Amino acid sequence: MTTTSPTMSETVRLGLDAAIRAPSPHNSQPWRFEVTGARIDVLLDRDRVLDVVDARAREARLSCGAAVLNIRVALLAAGRTTMVHLLPDPHRAELLARLFIRGPRPIAPADTALARAIALRRSNRRPFTERALPVKVRRALVDAACLEGGELTLLDHPGDLDALAALLRHAEHLQSEDPAFRAELARWTVVNGTRDDGVPAVAGGPRPEPGSLLTLRHYEVGPAGSPERPYERQPLVAVLSSYTDTPLAQVRAGQAMQRVLLTATNAGVSASFLSQPVEIPATRAALRRMLGGQPYPQVVLRFGYGFTAPATRRRAVETVTRQRTEEVTP
Ligand SMILES: Cc1cc2nc3c(=O)[nH]c(=O)nc-3n(C[C@H](O)[C@H](O)[C@H](O)COP(=O)(O)O)c2cc1C
Repeated sequence: MTTTSPTMSETVRLGLDAAIRAPSPHNSQPWRFEVTGARIDVLLDRDRVLDVVDARAREARLSCGAAVLNIRVALLAAGRTTMVHLLPDPHRAELLARLFIRGPRPIAPADTALARAIALRRSNRRPFTERALPVKVRRALVDAACLEGGELTLLDHPGDLDALAALLRHAEHLQSEDPAFRAELARWTVVNGTRDDGVPAVAGGPRPEPGSLLTLRHYEVGPAGSPERPYERQPLVAVLSSYTDTPLAQVRAGQAMQRVLLTATNAGVSASFLSQPVEIPATRAALRRMLGGQPYPQVVLRFGYGFTAPATRRRAVETVTRQRTEEVTP
């Protein structure tokens, strides 16, 4: 139990500081926030949706969902609950979530631990060690998705992993042959320290050796020349799915994704994204069939024990937030 709780504006600030740490494709940060007293609105920033890789804004909604989860987790650790209304206004499709800050409530050690993971989490595209994840940690990842209404399928059977790897290679090939995809990737690959968005080349991993099972998205500035390195021989890959594929389901899946990532961070487990097969409709459909035909795959993640990866930058809270005056209810 804490004895002093932060003021409301400090609490809101805490939530927003956490929100902007969410992951997003190419670190595009497709969010905006509007604050009215103790209410935080999370909005989709259409100008930041990736035209080529995410034309329908599915990944942008996942990212905003992750920002929502970060706010919830950070505020719980500050002794506050949040009442969350997803897609509250049918006439404003970009308004993805409205959070009302409530509380106070006692703080549990688990809340504090999960909140600490928000700043520590990062995408780690580097090779992992050969150490396997213990059953307890695997179960915690699956439970984390479940808690947010998602389903995390660990591809434990070599046949499934091989099938996923084949889809990944196919999708990666299609994307690398597409000039529009390459141009978009180049626009979001940045020289370290020059921008508050985009992926700095230092956050990219080395090229996998020829014959490696998995292929990773490559963020590189200048001519391809980074050394090849062996990746883990038996990667742990998991697919996070939702029951439907509506905008609402995508925001919820984003919360599940982020709870999985924070749970992994908390357990000392690194993660990186392998989104290529869910970004191409044909490979996404094939992956869906592989999972039994019902759930919609939203994110593919690779887990393992790695060495520290660099943090990426974010636009300041002030840049992405609009403070509104309290609305007067008639
Ligand atoms: C929906 C989604 C899809 C992503 N897909 C990929 C991917 O395919 N390859 C990759 O290397 N990173 C991918 N990322 C990770 C982002 O590039 C990363 O979150 C961003 O650069 C910010 O870095 P951070 O995660 O270390 O904070 C994805 C992130 C999200 C939220």
